[in-house]
Amino acid sequence: MKEFEIAVYGLGVMGSSLAKNLISKGFSTALFGKSQEERESFQAQGKFTVFSTEKALVNSLKRPRVIFLMVTAGNVVDFVIDSLLPLLDEGDILIDGGNSHFKDTQRRCHGLLEKGIQFLGVGVSGGEKGALTGPSMMVGGSKKAWDSCGYILERMAARVGEEYCCSFLGKEGAGHYVKMVHNGIEYAMLQLIADFYSFMKKGLGLSHQEITEIFTRWKHTELNSYLIDITAAVLAKKDGDGEPLVEKIRDFARQKGTGSWTLEEAIARGVYAPTISEAVFSRYFSQDTQLRKEGSQVLQVTIKPITLENYEKKLKDAFYLAMLVSYAQGIALIQKASADYGWEIDLPLAVSLWREGCIIRSELLQDITKALKESDKNILLSQSFGDLGKREQALRQISAKAIEAGVAVSTLLSVISYYDSCRTEKMNVNLVQALRDCFGAHTYERTDREGRFHTDWMEGED
Ligand code: 6PG
Repeated sequence: MKEFEIAVYGLGVMGSSLAKNLISKGFSTALFGKSQEERESFQAQGKFTVFSTEKALVNSLKRPRVIFLMVTAGNVVDFVIDSLLPLLDEGDILIDGGNSHFKDTQRRCHGLLEKGIQFLGVGVSGGEKGALTGPSMMVGGSKKAWDSCGYILERMAARVGEEYCCSFLGKEGAGHYVKMVHNGIEYAMLQLIADFYSFMKKGLGLSHQEITEIFTRWKHTELNSYLIDITAAVLAKKDGDGEPLVEKIRDFARQKGTGSWTLEEAIARGVYAPTISEAVFSRYFSQDTQLRKEGSQVLQVTIKPITLENYEKKLKDAFYLAMLVSYAQGIALIQKASADYGWEIDLPLAVSLWREGCIIRSELLQDITKALKESDKNILLSQSFGDLGKREQALRQISAKAIEAGVAVSTLLSVISYYDSCRTEKMNVNLVQALRDCFGAHTYERTDREGRFHTDWMEGED
């Protein structure tokens, strides 16, 4: 019987695409579909070997066996692992390619290693099309497993020249962590696009057509990125009656949760990520339709018509800085997590994996990778992006105009807050410390002496 090099377990949208990708790269691939429909629909698309029992699948593989799990993240991954375990031998490799929480990956890595099974947690980005033609793949877990089957993953991935957008980033959940942060940045950028759209429409009073043309022109500038590409296409899409389809979509955003996980991690690691935070909360807040409905009638503002000279150039400069700040927040989080969890993630390498294949791919990532190779400081401090001053002025003007016009663009506004926070040498929290000490004797430190101090602030007061 033929011995397959690898198996793909799960033939949903992503599993099917990855399986076809593997086969197109010449890897003999065994497939497993749980339901008959899944198996039949896949077999109808070509000459594939789809097994219906786990035993037959496992027996068809050469050793060490490599099984790529493409099942829904969460408990399902554990169920599938439990059902495969009795069939596997020491040294076999399981790969989880779903959007699993990095802590689950960590737990699975350790649990499986005790049973002699090598485990890889792989963050796969690029959607259905990327999975088929070449995704970005962020790998973590067992180095031994990577050394044994990493070449297969590399061959599946997107490339920049001769470099694969796939690499081993560290032990345990390192790969899934980097993918989670990728998604946090994705949330930030999606919401920034929406906020810039709102500002153009409600602040500057531009027509849908004019806004579509601006995004279309941005495709050929330094803002060149996958998300700008699809924004131009989405805005241009007309409904059957010739009206823009996007205007007919309910303003109620959903999520599968990876953005919220990123925010939870930013809090746990103490990393300031206001743009990711505002983007995550924008999705939650969009669901409070009743408050917004009543608020639009009750809460009055005096909205002044605004004008902004040379607005297209300013919007472009501001958006560039907004993208840079979004990446900066995500990268700072990965850096802190790598230190806290002891993963030793090679930061420029991790970021370089986003240059192709994934959702947040952009031209800017070339310069960011270069900046991180030169220094591990926050990328805003790098000289790789030229003089940020002009862009800062544009962003500040747009932020001020948005406030003046009363347009709700909290994610856009968070960008200038982050920028200003980063350039404030002396913050105002000395006053916070004094107040904490006043009401709770929490003590404070001084700028001119070592130690912790407490003052009776209300001495002599009633
Ligand atoms: C990707 C995407 C993909 C998906 C996320 C976000 O990299 O291919 O990030 O993983 O879009 O799950 O989905 P939500 O917006 O539903 O959380």
